[in-house]
Amino acid sequence: MSQAAIRLWPELADAVISPMIYGHFAEHLGRCIYEGIWVGPKSRIPNEKGMRLDVLAALKHLRAPILRWPGGCFADDYHWRQGVGPKKDRPATVNLWWQQTDPNSFGTQEYMKLCQALGCDANICVNVGSGSPREARDWLEYCNFGGDSALSKARAKHGHPEPYGVRYWGVGNEPWGCGGRFTGGDYGKEYVRFANYMKQMDPEIELIAAGTHFGDYSDARLNAFNHDFCASMPHADLIEHLSIHRYFARGKGDDFSENDYKALFADVHTLEKDLQLTEAVLRYFYPDKHVGIAVDEWGMWHPEATPENGLEQTHTLRDALLAASVLNLFNRWAHRVSMANIAQTVNVLQCLAMTNGVKMFLTPTYYVFDMMRPHMNGKRVTQQVECDNYEAHPVGEKEKASVSLLDVSASRSGKRLHLTVVNRSLDQDIETEIEVKDLNIKTASGSLLHAESPQSANTFEQPRSVRNKRFKLQAEASKPLIHVFPAHSVTAIALTLE
Ligand code: AHR
Repeated sequence: MSQAAIRLWPELADAVISPMIYGHFAEHLGRCIYEGIWVGPKSRIPNEKGMRLDVLAALKHLRAPILRWPGGCFADDYHWRQGVGPKKDRPATVNLWWQQTDPNSFGTQEYMKLCQALGCDANICVNVGSGSPREARDWLEYCNFGGDSALSKARAKHGHPEPYGVRYWGVGNEPWGCGGRFTGGDYGKEYVRFANYMKQMDPEIELIAAGTHFGDYSDARLNAFNHDFCASMPHADLIEHLSIHRYFARGKGDDFSENDYKALFADVHTLEKDLQLTEAVLRYFYPDKHVGIAVDEWGMWHPEATPENGLEQTHTLRDALLAASVLNLFNRWAHRVSMANIAQTVNVLQCLAMTNGVKMFLTPTYYVFDMMRPHMNGKRVTQQVECDNYEAHPVGEKEKASVSLLDVSASRSGKRLHLTVVNRSLDQDIETEIEVKDLNIKTASGSLLHAESPQSANTFEQPRSVRNKRFKLQAEASKPLIHVFPAHSVTAIALTLE
């Protein structure tokens, strides 16, 4: 058995982990919104005002902090007026990117009801690609204006006299691609037009500029995009977050080699490089303002997920190990990562739940969000990890990276310390000494997500093959905890300190 040590300094807790890091994203794509969330009030599937109850309950349990909507690529061809008012007056429209017809029965009113039911923040992405600053500022007026205007009256007529107070607004999505094929410089100029009128309509909002997807770093335009955007958008008062996207793919969902498995965790280093590159640009162009990085789309995108099948894929323990490693990275980057939204909530890509008629199962990734939610609003704890490493090529890198077998993040909330440990070894259990500096451990408890192999999956036939189980830990004041982390597992440990 391999040996390791984790040292934690809870008295040196610093940056607050934004709860928004544990955010979600739901697009009008495949069966995410329609069927996955919205079934309509007349459906045989148990629902509350059209929203399916099983999915609602699952997301409520996670205390989902934010839900990005309506896309994605969909956002840059979405015209919000077609999705408000009486259902009979809403037209069926073409969902250009995902080869579907949209009945528009799920629009702003339904989305806001969903956010209210979940108790989460709304995050609306406006249409830059085929829309206009006028359409975007009108949407904002419809949602947030508290005075007397035609649009605020329309909102009242549609059932909500009070302003919704939507705080987070994305200005387009992937403007380098489906969002308009802009260069960074051109998007910067366009951004100013949108942001100027949106901020004037409601100065309380936070704007998210849409940045790049670095991919394998082979596309010069994508590499330069964030830089060129910031260079042509000098108004720091118009930006609170710059987004990046990162999708991961190594082998198929449930059919991957040992090399694929190992390389996947090297790709988390690539995401860290994305963060470093983006942070450097933000520091340079906005030295006097803290602009956050919003990773507002991330997750596994297996090759079997195509537009033809609504981007549906299998859901194994390996996905969950990746999710925990990425969330650990975001926790460690709490000083700069202000938001992250896994793609996508239900039925699409690395979703948290899959539905089929009245049936639903929770994916292994769901349990990671459940285990890691205590980090929300905690303060990042200074840590040191000593363990074995392996070498693998991160995507787009000529040099191999050294990947640690244990991947760790820790946070402190008052007297509670939360620790998430991913043992990324395929086959080695790791006996680990966990030492808490300066304070004593009073109580300890844990939760383990583990299965026979990383290929173990949850399916409609076997919905609960991979799920977390609680376990007890023996803590002795002033002594380190000794714990064995099983191969290919995620462990959450909660300690009370004195
Ligand atoms: O999440 C699926 C798609 O991936 C989104 O619509 C787009 O933004 C990204 O390319």
